[in-house]
Amino acid sequence: MTIGQHPATRFRRTKASPSLRRLVRQTSLGVDDLIWPAFVRDGTDDETPVSSMPGVSRLTIDRVVKAAREAADLGVPAICLFPYIDASFKTETCEDAWNPDNLSNRATRAIKDAVPEIAVMTDVALDPYNINGHDGIVRDGVIVNDESVEALVKMALAQADAGADILGPSDMMDGRIGAMRSALESAGHTNTCILSYAAKYASAFYGPFRDAVGASGLLTGDKKTYQMDPGNSDEALRLIERDLSEGADMVMVKPGMPYLDICQRASDTFGAPVFAYQVSGEFAMIKAAAANGWVDGDKIMIESLQAFKRAGCAGILTYFACDVARALG
Ligand code: PBG
Repeated sequence: MTIGQHPATRFRRTKASPSLRRLVRQTSLGVDDLIWPAFVRDGTDDETPVSSMPGVSRLTIDRVVKAAREAADLGVPAICLFPYIDASFKTETCEDAWNPDNLSNRATRAIKDAVPEIAVMTDVALDPYNINGHDGIVRDGVIVNDESVEALVKMALAQADAGADILGPSDMMDGRIGAMRSALESAGHTNTCILSYAAKYASAFYGPFRDAVGASGLLTGDKKTYQMDPGNSDEALRLIERDLSEGADMVMVKPGMPYLDICQRASDTFGAPVFAYQVSGEFAMIKAAAANGWVDGDKIMIESLQAFKRAGCAGILTYFACDVARALG
C-alpha cells in the first residue's frame, strides 16, 4: 500500500483527541493480561521486605492468601508462587521439591481453598531446594539432565496434586515438558496447564529474584549450560516449537524487555499464547530510577507492559500486576 501525500494524509488527525487516540489504538493492556508473581515464606502473619525489589515482600501463607484475595478482587487472573525455602530444607537431592506438604504446595492449597477463582501458577525448578542453587541436580559439578527431569516430574505431580492450575517449568532441562505431560495425563491431571519457560536466557536481570528466594549466595558457577545464550534468536523458536510439540499449552520468553524481538518472533510464528516475564531486574531498574525522580514510575510501568502487547504477547508476568490493575481501575 502506498501512503497518501500530504495533506491528503495527516497522521495527526487520529491523534487529535483522547477519544480518537483510543479508537485507533492497535493493542491495549488490560487486567486480564496479568500474572502476579509472589514470594512465600514460612511463619504466620508476617512478611520480609526484599531490599532489591522495593515494595515487594516475602509473605507468610496467611498473608499470601489475603494478597491473592486482593489480586482476584482487582481482576488479576493468576498468581505465580515462588517459595523462600529455609536453608535446613536444601539438599543435594532436592527432595523437599516433591514433598506434598512443602511451603509452595501448602500455599497453593490455602489459596485454592480461600480464593478458588484465581489461577495458581507454580514454578517447576529445583533451585529453591538445591544446596548449590542450580535448577537441576548437580553431580561432580555437572548439571545432569535426565535425572533432573525425573525429579522435576515428581515435583510437577506434587504441585498438580496440591491444586496448581498452571505449572511453570523454568528449569530449561531437555525433555521435561514431554515427561511432565505424560505423567500428568497418567495421573488424571488432564486439565493442568503447562506454561513452559521455553526461551529463558542466562541473564543478569534475575539478580534481585535470587535475593528474594535466598539463592544468591548459594549458586555455584552460572546457569549457562542450560539457559540460553543472549546472542541467540533462532534457537528460541526451536525451543518453543519443541516445548509446544511435547505438550506445553503456553510458552514464555524471559527476561522481557531486553528480549522483545523474541516475543515478536514467537508470537508471529506460533498460534500459541506467548507470555513475557518482566523479571526482577527490570522491575528493580524502574523502581530505582523512579525513586530517584529520574523517570515517572507509574507511566513507565504501563508503557513497559504495553510494549509486550504490541510485540504480540498474550500476557505478562510482572511484579507490578496489582499496581497496574489499580492504575487501570
Ligand atoms: C529459577 C527462576 C528464576 C526466575 C524465575 N524462576 C531465576 C533463575 O533462573 O536464576 C527469575 C525471575 C525474576 O528474575 O524475576 N528457576
